[in-house]
Amino acid sequence: MVNHTMKLPNFVLLLTSALLLATTVSSDPDLLQDLCVADPSSGVKVNGFTCKEASKVNASDFFSSILAKPGATNNTFGSLVTGANVEKVPGLNTLGVSLSRIDYAPDGINPPHTHPRATEIVFVLEGQLDVGFITTANVLISKTINKGEIFVFPKGLVHFQKNNANVPAAVISAFNSQLPGTQSIATTLFAATPSLPDHVLTKTFQIGTKEVQKIKTRLLPKK
Ligand SMILES: *[C@@H]1O[C@H](CO)[C@@H](O)[C@H](O)[C@H]1NC(C)=O
Ligand SMILES: *[C@@H]1O[C@H](CO)[C@@H](O)[C@H](O)[C@H]1NC(C)=O
Repeated sequence: MVNHTMKLPNFVLLLTSALLLATTVSSDPDLLQDLCVADPSSGVKVNGFTCKEASKVNASDFFSSILAKPGATNNTFGSLVTGANVEKVPGLNTLGVSLSRIDYAPDGINPPHTHPRATEIVFVLEGQLDVGFITTANVLISKTINKGEIFVFPKGLVHFQKNNANVPAAVISAFNSQLPGTQSIATTLFAATPSLPDHVLTKTFQIGTKEVQKIKTRLLPKK
């Protein structure tokens, strides 16, 4: 016979603490040293990048002018995201932060997407944007924001920015991750490699094969 030595309140306490631990969502891990400049040439695979030899570290590892100029927005969506993350600024490795600049043509959109590893705050440099995110309860939280204003997109939630004005717009985005990652819903579903089967998309979106193929053709990278 099983000996039920653990009393119910103890069990509940244990279960509650286990759940609390499990739901403590952390962002990038804390660093254990001053710095760890990424060494992308290292063959050693770790969570992030291995550290460059300290004697080879200098100011250029912590510097970038990549966000100084507007990006070219003459593409399908009329927007361009320029990331200043650990891939461009190796000194960001293990620091848990990064920035992007996003430029929008008139009518341009940064289409609905998620960042699996970061919360984002946008600060409007120029122009006006309609922005929003959708909660897991499927509620849209949206607003029009102007130059000098900010808006927050919680970690992992689907969000977008649209320039409805007839002049260009630009934002700076801050992330609590050295590499937030992006999954852009339409591109993820219609322009993956290899392709998602048409029948998955026809059933998902309740549309026909012709419509699926039309969207795929529009979103696949131009050869
Ligand atoms: C930093 O070191 C690299 C070589 O590793 C060199 O090319 C660069 O000029 C140095 N930059 C500064 C700011 O000292
Ligand atoms: C965007 O404009 C630049 C410069 O005007 C041009 O070189 C480039 O080919 C254009 N790209 C597309 C996709 O039209």
